Amino acid sequence: MPDTQKIGIDAVAVHVPKYFIDLKTLAFANQVDPDKYTIGLGCRRMAVAAPDEDPVTMAVRAATTLLKNYSINPRDIGMLIVGSESGVDGAKPIASYVHGMLGLPSCCRSFDTKHACYSATAGLRMASDWCAVRSASTGKKALVIATDVARYSVGSAGEPTQGAGAVALLIGPDARVLEFDLYPEAVHTEEVMDFWRPSYRSTALVDGDASINSYLDSLVHTYSLYQKASDLDINRYDHLLFHVPFPKMAYKAFSRLYELEVSQRRNGVAPLKQEYAARTEPSLWANRELGNIYSGSLYLSLAGLIERSTDPISGKRAGLFSYGSGSCGEYFSGRLGTDPQAWKGRTGIEEGMKRRVELDYRKYLEFRWAGERLAYEGSYFEELIDPAVRSDGIAFLGIRDHQRIYATYNVSRDRDSEPAKPAQREVPVFNSL
Ligand code: COA
Repeated sequence: MPDTQKIGIDAVAVHVPKYFIDLKTLAFANQVDPDKYTIGLGCRRMAVAAPDEDPVTMAVRAATTLLKNYSINPRDIGMLIVGSESGVDGAKPIASYVHGMLGLPSCCRSFDTKHACYSATAGLRMASDWCAVRSASTGKKALVIATDVARYSVGSAGEPTQGAGAVALLIGPDARVLEFDLYPEAVHTEEVMDFWRPSYRSTALVDGDASINSYLDSLVHTYSLYQKASDLDINRYDHLLFHVPFPKMAYKAFSRLYELEVSQRRNGVAPLKQEYAARTEPSLWANRELGNIYSGSLYLSLAGLIERSTDPISGKRAGLFSYGSGSCGEYFSGRLGTDPQAWKGRTGIEEGMKRRVELDYRKYLEFRWAGERLAYEGSYFEELIDPAVRSDGIAFLGIRDHQRIYATYNVSRDRDSEPAKPAQREVPVFNSL
């Protein structure tokens, strides 16, 4: 029998991209009533990846914030898992770039997971099992990063549900943010063609109605399994967090669980809107700002909740539902940590929000096209990226000799003075960010 112990999320940090577009601007350009995007889908703004931002740079930024803000020594990381829908290479995982740029120890397992928006949860659950077996993890912690650029075709129904961002999670014992409850797993897998991205496309394809129905089916299956195994009903959760492709989806999900509870005549269920306002709405503000960040959207809700909650949340129970099209869903729960000082001001969200810059529609299109151009062999030229929009820290500069070129910048120091410096592989980027 392995020696198992209670494990959870010890730290969480978010990379908020610098640029965003207001959904009213997008609605105007698409000649759609803005209320459809803001009320019908519940969206407000969406993050837009800068031309030199990709899933690798966003993952590095989120992880760097985590290591710095929670004073974690990279030497204490024994496993690195990156969950993403936006892989940059058919063979080389994002994790291998991130491992090198963070300067993690060589005795550290690293790999990517893929199952649309479920990918990071798959990584988190594996990491948690690994940490629980002390003979394997020897007290080391696991770093799980969700990183995605969510892109649909211009003018498509999916376009208002785009976004970009990354969330880094540190998994280990004596977790300060969320300690997982130890109930049997509640997972549901069913092959569905609801969302996919053929390897020759940079934008996803989706059957919107099928994806919503499959999400809700998966939620009911997994929640019911969990309820049976744990005997926890809706009243036992102070917070219910969901995968958030668009904020209204969280309302649809909450309503479905509410109907389930009412149909089972569980005692004392308050009116739907009141329950939703108390248990789910406080976790959605960051999703309304960044949009859909695919694999990280559930964990963006968690970070948003703990960073801004005005109610005391210490020790409260949260239920979490993760869904990935294709499809795989999982429901699990945990208790929030007892000391808010362990996370307040450390998630990086507030800092990221302060330095945001709004794009008009033309610039939004230009950023998309610039990102697309960099995806092909020979795209790297020094100074291709307009210095005015260059990302501070780590930047993706394009492809040369079939290899991705990354550079470190200090914009305030380098702007208009020094050309891009491709990153030296032997110098971990983490040390210079
Ligand atoms: N004012 C207020 N609300 C309005 C409106 C207006 N002028 N016009 C439409 N709406 C409402 C609709 O009633 C609908 O609300 P409801 O779902 O509560 O009934 C909502 O806005 C969306 O309208 P709909 O016509 O269904 O939108 P759509 O066909 O353009 O597509 C998605 C919506 C979500 C399917 C589409 O954005 C998509 O495919 N997104 C990507 C996939 C995704 O996120 N899937 C989720 C599960 S993973």
